[in-house]
Amino acid sequence: MKLFDVYPLYDVTPVRADDVYVYDEKGTEYLDLYGGHAVISIGHGHPHYVKKLKNQLDQIGFYSNAIHNPLQHELAAAIGHQSCCSDYQLFLCSSGAEAIENSLKLASFQTNKKRVIAFKNAFHGRTSAAVAVTDNPKINAPLNKQQEVTFLEFNDSASLEKELKKEDVCAVIFEAIQGVGGLDEPSEEFIYDMDRLCKENKVCLIADEVQSGFGRTGTFFAYQKYRIEPQIVTMAKGMGNGFPIGGILVHPSIKAKYGMLGTTFGGNHLACSASLAVLKVLEDERLQNHAFKMGVYFKEQAQKIKGLKKIKGRGLMLGIEFDFEVGALRKTLIYDEKIFTGGSSNKKLLRILPPLTVQKTHIDLFFKGLKKALNKHKNQ
Ligand SMILES: Cc1ncc(COP(=O)(O)O)c(C=O)c1O
Repeated sequence: MKLFDVYPLYDVTPVRADDVYVYDEKGTEYLDLYGGHAVISIGHGHPHYVKKLKNQLDQIGFYSNAIHNPLQHELAAAIGHQSCCSDYQLFLCSSGAEAIENSLKLASFQTNKKRVIAFKNAFHGRTSAAVAVTDNPKINAPLNKQQEVTFLEFNDSASLEKELKKEDVCAVIFEAIQGVGGLDEPSEEFIYDMDRLCKENKVCLIADEVQSGFGRTGTFFAYQKYRIEPQIVTMAKGMGNGFPIGGILVHPSIKAKYGMLGTTFGGNHLACSASLAVLKVLEDERLQNHAFKMGVYFKEQAQKIKGLKKIKGRGLMLGIEFDFEVGALRKTLIYDEKIFTGGSSNKKLLRILPPLTVQKTHIDLFFKGLKKALNKHKNQ
């Protein structure tokens, strides 16, 4: 049987990984500044993570949500403690899109309304409601287009207020730093306007932290740079360091009812163990603070690169923008310099999402490789 061919692939076959490096079948070493789409948070194959998962597998790997699972309570306590959101409630699922899907469904249950406000260039996933609030018509099938969604520009408080006054909106969903869209952020003033307008109009504010959460930007969640209180926070990628797990944090004002949300795989024993291991390493190795510092160092070094137009993002969720499309540059970086980087819907931007364990020496290696790759492109 052939694979359903939906992914354009780089010609690299990783078979092993260690911290910030991956190795192909010939033993070639690649510096991973992309973390497999921001998933690798505590580094590939962290010894504590491997030990916890192996031990858990020896005990019990999975049972469904029909029995007590103390690991879920342990995980809720640990996320609550590290995110300072201990009064929120936790619902567990298995991916980012599933977290978004559940957050929108919950907002609709809570308000008994169905229109959603999302933002230009947003990416929230590929399932039904998640893809409908994603600003990319190419990945929306006719089936998805039946959702009622209005896309606004960031920082347009007047339009947001006008839309919310129509009294048919259940949720405003935003990324504090856009990931796939290209690292743009709403202004501080707009963030506070969104929070206030949602409260005044009894609309759920959903912070999509699927990519930016779990310490990547130097705060536990990227929205926590500001003093706002979203009704729902979505999380996934860095949560399991590669083990599929997602979740939503639900504000205490939203009450649960049996059966309103559910999943077979979400919150299973192995997934909880993976995320607990991630949280322990994040705390023990102070990786959130480290991510902040490495972001500052990265930006300092980036200033020295000639021809660079803009540096965007915070902590280890970064983008460097050029005045040319970077597709060919990414290929040179991967094939000649052995460095993984990411792209975005802004074709002129390189996305940098390394494991949070990345060190200054790795960042220096990246800029050395980038300079060589840029020279090659100049001479072509
Ligand atoms: C901000 C954001 N939300 C949601 C998603 C969807 O996550 P998943 O691919 O796990 O479904 C992504 C994935 O890139 C994302 O970046």
